[in-house]
Amino acid sequence: MTGPTLATRLDGLPAPATIEMARRARELKAEGHDIISLALGEPDFATPAAAVEAAHQAALAGKTKYPPVDGTPELKAAVARKFSRENGLDFAQDELLVCNGGKQVIFNAFMATINPGDEVVVPAPYWVSYPLIARMFGGVPVHPVCDETDGFSLRPERLAAVMTARTKWLVLNFPNNPTGGICSEEDMKGIAEVLRDYPDVWILSDEIYEHLVFDGNRFTSFAAIAPDLRDRVLTMNGVAKAYAMTGWRVGYAGGPKRLIAAMRAVQSNATSGVCTVAQAAAAAALDGPPDLIREMVTTYERRRDLMVSGLREIPGVTCAKPAGAFYVYPGITGLIGRKTPGGRVLDTDTAFCMALLEEAHVATVPGSAFGLAPYVRLSCATADTVLDEALKRIARFIASLV
Ligand SMILES: Cc1ncc(COP(=O)(O)O)c(C=O)c1O
Repeated sequence: MTGPTLATRLDGLPAPATIEMARRARELKAEGHDIISLALGEPDFATPAAAVEAAHQAALAGKTKYPPVDGTPELKAAVARKFSRENGLDFAQDELLVCNGGKQVIFNAFMATINPGDEVVVPAPYWVSYPLIARMFGGVPVHPVCDETDGFSLRPERLAAVMTARTKWLVLNFPNNPTGGICSEEDMKGIAEVLRDYPDVWILSDEIYEHLVFDGNRFTSFAAIAPDLRDRVLTMNGVAKAYAMTGWRVGYAGGPKRLIAAMRAVQSNATSGVCTVAQAAAAAALDGPPDLIREMVTTYERRRDLMVSGLREIPGVTCAKPAGAFYVYPGITGLIGRKTPGGRVLDTDTAFCMALLEEAHVATVPGSAFGLAPYVRLSCATADTVLDEALKRIARFIASLV
């Protein structure tokens, strides 16, 4: 190709498999097909009214000028209260940063720390952004596997086996996207023990799904489990999933002052501070009553049960019961190699998901996009009736395979 070139740092960055799936789903919809999408990780609840009202009031009060890069004092105070109340973590103001979504926390942190060749340990299956962001800065993703038979928890020995002198970061994300798996306190303690042998490794604990845990399980922050590691743990969270505020783009992190200052420097040259009215909304959400979260947890738990029992009835499908988040991650090893009535060979989970979309009109995401195949990620963030219909279509589609 001729003309101006693109940066080499983008070389080899794969386009997420989800993009092709989403494009085909849009095409089929435009052709008039009734497509059910279980592909998106977005709560189907409304943003709390108090948060919307706080944004409105902030705008009317003229809070519409450049905010401080690291967050408004009001939101930082609400974040400090949240960490103390819900996670038992106390942060000073210079240990906190407010970003444009949880995603910018990761971007800032990796840009501030990763040198080319540094290894970033991201247990698989993983949310796709961690390895992709790491690679933009020359980081080398390394993926220990979290097995279905372990409920997709990270076993400390799996972590120990991949740690090297080049390891720069370990990313922990429990409850997990895409599996819904959590990590037991015992496994967390084992992970901390492994990390004590590697004092030069940063730890990112992405706790964005912390409230969405089921079956009476209790969430504990990694930094609270291993207080002696706190000077290298970055605890990140956001309002997207807990308060159904994906579009407001507010995430935040608490961590050591040195790291937070470096991340703030990155952000000051990229986006500056986060939209003022969105910060006002986020502060109101964090300080609001916990009823909305309780209602969400009950709803997601009911939907999880519906999906898991429906999927387990389908021959060829295995399904671990997710302990959290709003996804299920069934295994389809038993279906690989089968053929659809239309003659397609299902040789990978990507082929399975594409055929399921084309022939049964259900959009999902193949496990290979998240680093562990052959699986399928289904989002439960949609109405029970829609999930019911999706299950029927999936069962019918699988029954028709030869
Ligand atoms: C595990 C995980 N972390 C972070 C995020 C990013 O959240 P935000 O919308 O706040 O950038 C997501 C969004 O899907 C996620 O699944």
